[in-house]
Amino acid sequence: MRILVTGASGLLGLNFSLRFAAEQQVTGAVYSHAFTQAPFSMVMTDLSQERNVDELIEKSKPDLVINCAALANLEECQKKPQEARMLNGELPGWLAEKCDNLSIKLVHISTDAVFDGTKKGKYNEADIPKPLSVYAQSKLAGEQAVQQIDQDALVLRVNFYGFSSSGQRSLAEFFLHNLEDSIPVKGFTDVFFCPLYVMDMVEYLMQAVEKGLGGLYHLCSSESLSKYDFGLRIARIFNLDGALISPITVSDVDFIRAPRSKNLVLDTGKIEQALGKATPSQADGLARFYHDFQDGYAKKLQALI
Ligand SMILES: NC(=O)c1ccc[n+]([C@@H]2O[C@H](COP(=O)([O-])OP(=O)(O)OC[C@H]3O[C@@H](n4cnc5c(N)ncnc54)[C@H](OP(=O)(O)O)[C@@H]3O)[C@@H](O)[C@H]2O)c1
Repeated sequence: MRILVTGASGLLGLNFSLRFAAEQQVTGAVYSHAFTQAPFSMVMTDLSQERNVDELIEKSKPDLVINCAALANLEECQKKPQEARMLNGELPGWLAEKCDNLSIKLVHISTDAVFDGTKKGKYNEADIPKPLSVYAQSKLAGEQAVQQIDQDALVLRVNFYGFSSSGQRSLAEFFLHNLEDSIPVKGFTDVFFCPLYVMDMVEYLMQAVEKGLGGLYHLCSSESLSKYDFGLRIARIFNLDGALISPITVSDVDFIRAPRSKNLVLDTGKIEQALGKATPSQADGLARFYHDFQDGYAKKLQALI
């Protein structure tokens, strides 16, 4: 199968591309980070221009497109709303139009941040989104455009962690590298989420494609925890000093501008029923994250640059 991965230098896109490069014909589209050592073909292009999207699809002729390209930093989106709207809001619609016309399967990656976090309990796919930040608003616009244009497209609201080429892309890397260097950090005790290890995410994503799923699904761990507890779990499994993590609440900080939801917990029942299996617990995901680190996977990614 020919797979086009947009955002192939990012946390999700790179891990997906590396996982399937040997089995499938993967083309990775990147913007500013090209890798010399990648085991899949790479195209550098600016996907905030519609004509570049058309050209990319025409040249790579994919059977499947995984859209991981985004402006995924909440603070950057707040500072550059126009860029966020193009990349997170417009690009998914252009891809959907192209994929729908050419009968190409599209998987679009959205976010848990589309909800305002006021619900008591988990958010399911029928809950009405209420985005708080520019990032969340632009991501909601993107998933709505995809759903309106291409009813066969699979839209996944996700949250994940893992290793990246910069070593700085995920919350897990943030805790791990700071604790390794004995640098004190802070962790929110009042923000709850359900992150999935990215290598589990890519397996579930591919199984969803193989099952022919379309429409909106939540894909994350079946277990939620606070960001502070997530840091402690990383410290424990890597045998690092968890006391370096100070518990704080969102209201304690003034360094963030983008409003954030405190409840990012998604109900994974719909995808679990469709795939016939539960999504991984935190213990299972973190054990795999630790194992991959011991196996030199983090260093392998950093050596790609
Ligand atoms: N990380 C999470 O836990 C999380 C949570 C919820 C949702 N998501 C969603 O998951 C998806 C993937 O996130 P991620 O964390 O992997 O993101 P990321 O690491 O920030 O990667 C973003 C990717 O988008 C590319 N990109 C940026 N501007 C571009 C442009 N103008 N043209 C083409 N490509 C461009 C980047 O390319 P270069 O690096 O080459 O510039 C990079 O490959 C996003 O849709 C995000 O909203 C992530």
